[in-house]
Amino acid sequence: MNSERLKSTAQAMLAEGKGLLAMDESNPTCNKRFAKAGIPQTEEARRSYRELIVTTPGLGEYISGVILYDETIRQKKKDGTAFLKVITNAGIIPGIKVDTGAKDLAGFPGEKVTEGLDGLPGRVAEYVQMGARFAKWRAVIAIGAGIPSEGCIDANAHALARYAAICQEAGLVPVVEPEVVMDGSHSLERCFEVSQQALRAVFNQLHTQRVVLEGMILKPNMVLSGKDCPHQDDVGQVVDATVRCLLRTVPAAVPGIAFLSGGQSGEQASARLNAMHVRFASKLPWAVTFSFARAIQHPALDIWSGHEAKVKAAQQALLHRARCNGAARRGKYTAALDNS
Ligand code: 13P
Repeated sequence: MNSERLKSTAQAMLAEGKGLLAMDESNPTCNKRFAKAGIPQTEEARRSYRELIVTTPGLGEYISGVILYDETIRQKKKDGTAFLKVITNAGIIPGIKVDTGAKDLAGFPGEKVTEGLDGLPGRVAEYVQMGARFAKWRAVIAIGAGIPSEGCIDANAHALARYAAICQEAGLVPVVEPEVVMDGSHSLERCFEVSQQALRAVFNQLHTQRVVLEGMILKPNMVLSGKDCPHQDDVGQVVDATVRCLLRTVPAAVPGIAFLSGGQSGEQASARLNAMHVRFASKLPWAVTFSFARAIQHPALDIWSGHEAKVKAAQQALLHRARCNGAARRGKYTAALDNS
């Protein structure tokens, strides 16, 4: 294993003022979002939308890496240029989602385990050969009555660690994503407890599977109350709980943390990321940045709505959210900047 190369890729992904853009929605997820916006759910529509994203002028100023999906990594612009070429020419590092989705966990009603380990070394080898330099795998941990169970947390932590080890051996930096989801009416305290338990299990398994911590990136949720909880905490409470949870569970050897947005609005996600830097700047042992999908893409998707004439306006909206998050990553985000 080439640990030095893994470390230098991870460092480049964590470049100052930049973060990751997740555009790795599976076809069913992408189609669901298209259906909501009244966009046809076709391969050509998905290709056009992803072309809009990767050709956004100036994207590389705020985005260090993009996470692609199997269909997307093989696609081309209308003029025949491979997306991979467009991305690398923009100075952006290409990554790839390698899990095959969260499926029902046998024996644990209401809980999921992420699949995709079978045949993974072969798939990873192909992606490396194509030019991917990092990978992503998302585990889903739901909070509800009597869940999550230890069985669910452990099964997901084990799969994440096996995935990470396979990727590192092939030269890909694993982005390790144990997502405690926002669905439900639970409190911030409950999310804290579950996130802490999940992260402890994940780092325990990463150690057991001999994953090089210096050559990976953690992609966690922020610690938040459920979206149906009547009490929603302010930015300070969210940020304090999130940082406390991560300081307790994530070794300082991990070079970076890149948050998922998980259903937060673009503005909320930027404001919270920003506040972590403002409040904790010198106390954070890792680089702290973003790896958002919805919190960067959403205004752009709605503006585009499948119309060629709206591509430029959608790209401006996408770049705006990327710029806001780039500023948040340096503790320089303000509402005024967002409204400008
Ligand atoms: P969101 O930022 O929309 O949560 O997506 C991040 C992601 O990559 C989910 O796996």
